[in-house]
Amino acid sequence: MARILITSAIPYINGIKHLGNLVGSQLPADLYARYNRMRGNEVMFICATDEHGTPAELAAAKAGKPVAEYCAEMHEVQSGIARGFRLSFDHFGRSSSARNHALTQHMARKLGENGLIAEVVEKQVFSVADNRFLPDRYIEGTCPNCGYEKARGDQCENCTKQLDPTDLINPRSAVSGSTELEVRETKHLYLRQRTLKDKLGAWIDSKAGWPVLTTSIAKKWLNDGEGLQDRGITRDLAWGVPAQFEGAPWRGMEGKVFYVWFDAPIEYIAGTAEWADANGLDDAAWERWWRTDKGADDVTYVQFMGKDNVPFHTLSFPATIIGSGEPWKLVDYIKSFNYLNYDGGQFSTSQGRGVFMDQALSILPADYWRWWLLSHAPENSDSEFTWENFQASVNKDLADVLGNFVSRITKFCRSKFGEVVPEGGIAGERADALVAELETRVRAYEGHMEAMDVRKAATELRAIWVAGNEYLQAAAPWSVFKEDPAQAAAMVRLGLNLIRLYAVLSEPFIPDAAETMLAALGTKDRTWPGPIAEALAVLPAGHAFQTPDVLFRKIADEEREDWQARFAGVRS
Ligand code: MF3
Ligand code: ZN
Repeated sequence: MARILITSAIPYINGIKHLGNLVGSQLPADLYARYNRMRGNEVMFICATDEHGTPAELAAAKAGKPVAEYCAEMHEVQSGIARGFRLSFDHFGRSSSARNHALTQHMARKLGENGLIAEVVEKQVFSVADNRFLPDRYIEGTCPNCGYEKARGDQCENCTKQLDPTDLINPRSAVSGSTELEVRETKHLYLRQRTLKDKLGAWIDSKAGWPVLTTSIAKKWLNDGEGLQDRGITRDLAWGVPAQFEGAPWRGMEGKVFYVWFDAPIEYIAGTAEWADANGLDDAAWERWWRTDKGADDVTYVQFMGKDNVPFHTLSFPATIIGSGEPWKLVDYIKSFNYLNYDGGQFSTSQGRGVFMDQALSILPADYWRWWLLSHAPENSDSEFTWENFQASVNKDLADVLGNFVSRITKFCRSKFGEVVPEGGIAGERADALVAELETRVRAYEGHMEAMDVRKAATELRAIWVAGNEYLQAAAPWSVFKEDPAQAAAMVRLGLNLIRLYAVLSEPFIPDAAETMLAALGTKDRTWPGPIAEALAVLPAGHAFQTPDVLFRKIADEEREDWQARFAGVRS
């Protein structure tokens, strides 16, 4: 039994994620977690909300709530939606947890003790009215290039020119609108990543089997231009992990917190500790996943994320881990994704363009979305969601192929033999050919799942469903029944066992349908198939079942058009 540690990039706390976010991290991570559990491996699957940083503070202010309260509420909202999508986290933690505070400070202290932290005094814009330093993007003013009045201190949205806050005409605070701005000196901690460059480079080079998307991004950041830069890891904010703490190897950092990207990945570890706490377990229970000196040396650790997250996971977080000098588990494999576009453009959170996770569940159950998203995952290039494609995929793959198969077999059996697995007969040559085909296909499916080739796995699974349908069509037990009821019985027995096999194989993609199929068959047997002939003999003659309701309904053209219009933009 292997031990697999899986983390998904942790979603920002502010706002509800769209389907593009979901398919780029949490959903494929869930697929892999479920698959490994089905194979009998020991899995630890961790996600959390990413709660620090200015966007969280501003979203709370906009909602008129203290930031801690806002985050607590949004965490509940996001965890409810995650449950709705059947994301099977062992724990859905919070980067603002006490565990993460302690562990982030611990890591920073170790880095400091190892000479990897520099104290740097910088000049930064201070807003007197807000009594805080402002990050560049929270300073607004008129663009010197195009005259746009709401240009940000880092960039003009209108003409895309890169700006410095001092370039802006009539600069003001985006927080309060105040123009009372001063440039003040402030001290920050920098992680001296440059000194770790060789170690990081060697580590990345040792990962020969990583996807090109992952290593190419990592190497670009490592070597391009001036190469890996030292990185500021503190910010002048109130909300976050305090940078001044008991035992810190520096002074004068009061009122500052660690940068959100410093503490967020540490939450992968802290989230596992939260899991142990929530289950009344001791530290050894989570350390055996994360400390190579405490049992984690036989763990395989896989991370899932969108491509924009890759630099942080190939360089910054490993710099923290390696720089700590402690035996923390480093990632073994990074599965990264391109972007999912929406109907001829991009998903847009600010414009409400596209389908957001809560909206998706309000129109159709999780399995419909899971199937479409995973079977169209943006693996080798960006991919696009269109309503036509979604409708076609649901109606064909789920309703016509899988759903129809289940319904035909169970209904035919009920009408001719009653709701029990019928006995006697021999199914014949066609059945032997089916078994041989499935033998090959199921092994190929396993290979794609192990390799996290999500689309290939989906294609193979669909082919496995199709094979059953084609068999049924050709074998035609309804015709055979008139001449040879015993042979028809054998065909139906095979078909009912196929439903169980499909439930087991499909569980990682469509867990609810899998559950419904197993429940209808009156079995809890989720044994992953060894030899297919054996897997198709699990339900013996005489075993009772219940004909299930329609597994998947079809999407009508009018519905599709209605949704298309509804999600075109400007979310209310
Ligand atoms: N919140 C980030 C995003 O949505 C991801 C953080 S991943 C972690 O892009 F490693 F920092 F945890
Ligand atoms: Zn401009």
